[in-house]
Amino acid sequence: MDLKKASQMVKNENKFLARSARINYFDLVIDHAHGAVLFDVDGNKYIDLLASASAINVGHTNERVVKAIAEQSQKLIHYTPAYFHHEPAMKLAEKLAKIAPGDSEKMVSFGNSGSDANDGIIKFARAYTGRPYIVSYMGSYHGSTYGSQTLSGTSLNMTRKIGPMLPDVVHVPYRKYPNEDQHQLSQRYFKEFKRPFESFLPADEVACVLIEPIQGDGGIVKAPEEYMQLVYKFCKENGILFAVDEVNQGFGRTGKMWSIQQYDNIEPDLMSVGKSIASGMPLSAVIGKKEIMQSLDAPAHIFTTAGNPVCTAAALATISVLEDEHLVEKSARDGLYAKQRFLDMQKKHKSIGDVRMWGLNGGIELVKDQKTKEADPQTANKIIYYAFAHGVVIITLAGNILRFQPPLVITREQLDYALDVLDDAFTAAENGSFQLPEGIGKIGW
Ligand SMILES: Cc1ncc(COP(=O)(O)O)c(C=O)c1O
Repeated sequence: MDLKKASQMVKNENKFLARSARINYFDLVIDHAHGAVLFDVDGNKYIDLLASASAINVGHTNERVVKAIAEQSQKLIHYTPAYFHHEPAMKLAEKLAKIAPGDSEKMVSFGNSGSDANDGIIKFARAYTGRPYIVSYMGSYHGSTYGSQTLSGTSLNMTRKIGPMLPDVVHVPYRKYPNEDQHQLSQRYFKEFKRPFESFLPADEVACVLIEPIQGDGGIVKAPEEYMQLVYKFCKENGILFAVDEVNQGFGRTGKMWSIQQYDNIEPDLMSVGKSIASGMPLSAVIGKKEIMQSLDAPAHIFTTAGNPVCTAAALATISVLEDEHLVEKSARDGLYAKQRFLDMQKKHKSIGDVRMWGLNGGIELVKDQKTKEADPQTANKIIYYAFAHGVVIITLAGNILRFQPPLVITREQLDYALDVLDDAFTAAENGSFQLPEGIGKIGW
């Protein structure tokens, strides 16, 4: 790849953009994009296996989304829903309430980012229950506001130098040991989940448990069915709200509309959505059971630009595309295909550990040894660099896990091209024919 222009631009940007705002991978300066294809400022073309961190499920510059944005922006770019009303936000609130999982009546509160939606979950849960504590998970990522950052448990840089964090948030473990089966895992997780409740955390003072049913930034790691049911039951028995973060995994990513639908008969009390809701336009929402959402009065969760008309119009178009083009089903189908291809690669490449995949949503582990599953971030870095050099954009999670989250509209031909490149990348990393460039610094999380 010739990156002359891109590298120069990045060098200049680094003089002005604070380090806190970017995780270092490679000098990709995107000029334009369509579907699952990115074009950089040097004229290079890439298959996108990241979908802007799962924010572009219906594909880049989707025609119907672009049209909705163009038409709405000519009519009204913004008037704050904090005071008055506009039709796109009205329609979207109704649509989200109707497509949320479960039969209870739902209500919606808009925000600008997944992070503020998770702050909203803390507020609504505390208000409704009158209890202070929130339980979340180690390894989770919930965002970058103080509340959501406190809930998160995935990087020391999210607490280092900035404490004290929000009080009364308790993290419980969520880390699979190599070779544990689903039952063993469920029992151990639940034992660890209950330990705080037995030692310092009175259950009747806990407002909610917030979980990513499939941890995204934690490495695409799914909580087992048995465990989820145990926690859900525990919550019901103790008057604790059960909340899910669907920011990363919602809107068809996992082959279901919502990742919580991977489980039998679980209806969340509260959920946060963002990212793909409006194809990357800044919009988020808390969706919750009506009586819970009625527990706060304005201005407890108001943002001037939340529920912006252009963003909500983009969201309505995005959801229509997901539904009309059956992208949720396509995600499930293509996910099975991609998983099989990775499992075939796993047989010949000893650097591949676990292959996890639900929908077009995968975490592929790079390991030093397939038995011990010892992490191999160095090989993972080589693979993403090789892929980038051969026209495929993919990044790592948690150091050694490939993050496979293409736009759901990716064609079979594009998918095959990307998978073939990854296959070659595993070979090149394993036989030493590809080396990382000098001086690239720390890569990834
Ligand atoms: C599961 C999850 N929740 C919340 C967020 C935060 O969303 P945002 O970056 O839009 O604030 C993210 C972002 O990566 C996420 O993956």
